[in-house]
Amino acid sequence: MKSVYSNFLRLSTLCLLGVLLLCTAAGLLFNVKLLPGGLSRSMLLLPAALILFWGYRRYSSPLELLRSLEEVGYIPEPGCSRLQTVNQVRYRRKKGDLPPVYPNGWYRLLDSHLLLRGELKNITLLGEQVALYRTQEGQVYVVDAYCPHLGANLAVGGQVVGNCIECPFHGWQFNGEDGKCTKIPYAVKVPEFAKIKTWPSCEVNGMICIWYHSDGLAPTWSIPEQEEITSKEWVYRGRTEHYVGAHIEEIPENGADIAHLSQVHGPCAISGVDLRYTNSKLWKFVKHTWKVQWQPEPEPNNHCSQMFLEHALTLFGKHFALLDLHVIARQVGPGLVFMTFKHDFLGSGVILLCVTPVEPLLQRVSHSIYYQENMITAIPKFILWVECKQFERDIMIWNNKKYVSKPLLIKEDSAVQRHRHWFAQFYSENSPRLVFQQQGLDW
Ligand code: FES
Ligand SMILES: [Fe+2]
Repeated sequence: MKSVYSNFLRLSTLCLLGVLLLCTAAGLLFNVKLLPGGLSRSMLLLPAALILFWGYRRYSSPLELLRSLEEVGYIPEPGCSRLQTVNQVRYRRKKGDLPPVYPNGWYRLLDSHLLLRGELKNITLLGEQVALYRTQEGQVYVVDAYCPHLGANLAVGGQVVGNCIECPFHGWQFNGEDGKCTKIPYAVKVPEFAKIKTWPSCEVNGMICIWYHSDGLAPTWSIPEQEEITSKEWVYRGRTEHYVGAHIEEIPENGADIAHLSQVHGPCAISGVDLRYTNSKLWKFVKHTWKVQWQPEPEPNNHCSQMFLEHALTLFGKHFALLDLHVIARQVGPGLVFMTFKHDFLGSGVILLCVTPVEPLLQRVSHSIYYQENMITAIPKFILWVECKQFERDIMIWNNKKYVSKPLLIKEDSAVQRHRHWFAQFYSENSPRLVFQQQGLDW
């Protein structure tokens, strides 16, 4: 029942495509005059078939919006390229009295479908390089990218052999389970101390995550499974990826910063992402309004917090209750957010919002949407697109702001202070701090 809609759409598109191709073939081969004008008119059916096929592929494939750092959130400086602007802003910006840069917790590395069996990838996160690979049996392992022998990058030219990863330089093999070296092609015996660092990892909700703790502690909590994703009741409909030039804590803190919602996210999404123009008169007749509450969860889920968000849309000052949307954004640890929504007509689904530090003041942020399968794909894709536009407005603030350790808050901002207190649990004594080096911040 749940896939009746998509099967019907697929079948009807294929039928129409078949008819168009048959008509074209008949016109070309037998000069059958299916359309007035004969052969030349029949040939017009071919581009029509191709356009139909292209349109169907566009419609049914997941949305992918991947943005580089310089594409979003910077105002180009006169005479500078986008990249030069980014480097200048990052170089001269006041950094403020920053908290430690890598909080303890689980972080997303990659969406599961982007790592095939036998595939190997090099990923930068937390100021480190890791090699991520999937065995032929489907198991995922994460190890340090640099070989302890002479430093080659295992993910650049290396290969997956059974449970092991083989270095491209001298052929040493390391087991992803415990990091032990299992083979040195030119040695009689593999010494006991030959080992590579492994990272605790897990695969859940269609993504591969790794655990980081500055003291090397094992995971103290696990990532909750979204059952609708595992059971395929909700299916993948697209993803976005952005880079944000800010401290990681700025991003989740946004959920507790209630006052910014009407200022930054009030203007309609179509009015763009450049905050200089979002309040243009042209789009004044559409407005988003938000009501938000933020609160931490009690033990044993004190590593989680929840934001309850009620969204309403007004057109010419008139409220359309049909478009009201209730969202629960559950923050799980420092780097994962589950935004679930339910709507009587628009259906239900989840956006997995993941923030992964690449380096101290650079975050990779992904949004992946999973939605009930029997809903037309345009709905989840549109929701993801709107979320993406609203998020890009925040990026413009984050990329240019300074972290204020002692902010000037008023009573109405109290959730910001409570959020900072809650977030502090993810730092420990040895959490690394930014060593200030202006020349080290170039992108
Ligand atoms: S550097 Fe990896 S085996 Fe030599
Ligand atoms: Fe925001």
